[in-house]
Amino acid sequence: MFAFAGWHPFCYHQAMTVTPVLLDVDPGHDDAVALMLACGAPELAVRAVTTVAGNVPLDKTTRNALQVLSLIGREDIPVGAGAEAPLARALRTAEDVHGESGLDGVKLAEPTFSIDRRGAVELMADVVEASAEPVTLIPTGPLTNIATFLAEYPRLKENIDRIVLMGGSIGPGNTTPAAEFNVYVDPEAARVVFESGLRITMVGLDVTRQATTGPKEVERLRTLGRIGEVTADLVTFSSDDYRKVFGSGDPPIHDAVAVAAVVEPAVLETHPMRVEIECESELTRGETVCDLRGVWGKTPNAEVALELDRETFFGILYRSLGELVD
Ligand code: BDR
Ligand code: CA
Repeated sequence: MFAFAGWHPFCYHQAMTVTPVLLDVDPGHDDAVALMLACGAPELAVRAVTTVAGNVPLDKTTRNALQVLSLIGREDIPVGAGAEAPLARALRTAEDVHGESGLDGVKLAEPTFSIDRRGAVELMADVVEASAEPVTLIPTGPLTNIATFLAEYPRLKENIDRIVLMGGSIGPGNTTPAAEFNVYVDPEAARVVFESGLRITMVGLDVTRQATTGPKEVERLRTLGRIGEVTADLVTFSSDDYRKVFGSGDPPIHDAVAVAAVVEPAVLETHPMRVEIECESELTRGETVCDLRGVWGKTPNAEVALELDRETFFGILYRSLGELVD
């Protein structure tokens, strides 16, 4: 991290540290919000965005990432397209939640730039290698690209500060009773990441389900200019689909929580524990088995999020979106 002096609401009169980050995404409504939050947060320097197949196939997640960055005028951020399919399985997508395009419900203009000639893994390697400061990876989709990168470039692990990922759950899943979507889609990749020895923060459904956007939050978003309006439309579309799929409740913006946790770690209460990924059983495929009480006696491999400070989270979200060009 590097520091500069200046004001920001969480750190009065202190030098602010700026963390270099790379987002690996599968937009997806909540990925889109996560991208915009990251780009608006003065605490983060977004060095690259990589895309992975997940919510929708890769051509669509990549196009969506380019459209979102174009919308906010961040054509300077290189976008690398990554894996079209999980490491060892057929792709499972989530059009039921995100629509056919992955970003149904909002009309975004055509992208104003195109993908980097390097693919996701090569771009990740270049960014991590070139960074003077260790880079934080923020994956908010299936972990296919990250696992491939770690396998192909093990020497670059030393320049990764930590991985703050949206995925998994201590409690119930959302894709099966046992599994959260991102880990369900590519459990083998998740296992590689959790076994990597890197510092990992697991931002799972236990906390992201607390980041719900109801009428009050939507109303506030609509006060934030054009970008706030788009964000309000993104979460409103999600609410309609969310209720169709899950029956009731306001939709959570899962992926934005992982980004907020890098902006301000105190947004989460975490606990160190061993997390193992179920890859064998079809019944519980993709379950993140979290040893909350330490009964295995194994060394913890992740800080697992237990509670979200909603007020701080939404403070970061509104503030960061408000920073974006209008
Ligand atoms: C995760 O699944 C996807 O549908 C969302 O974008 C989020 O990353 C939540 O389980
Ligand atoms: Ca996602």
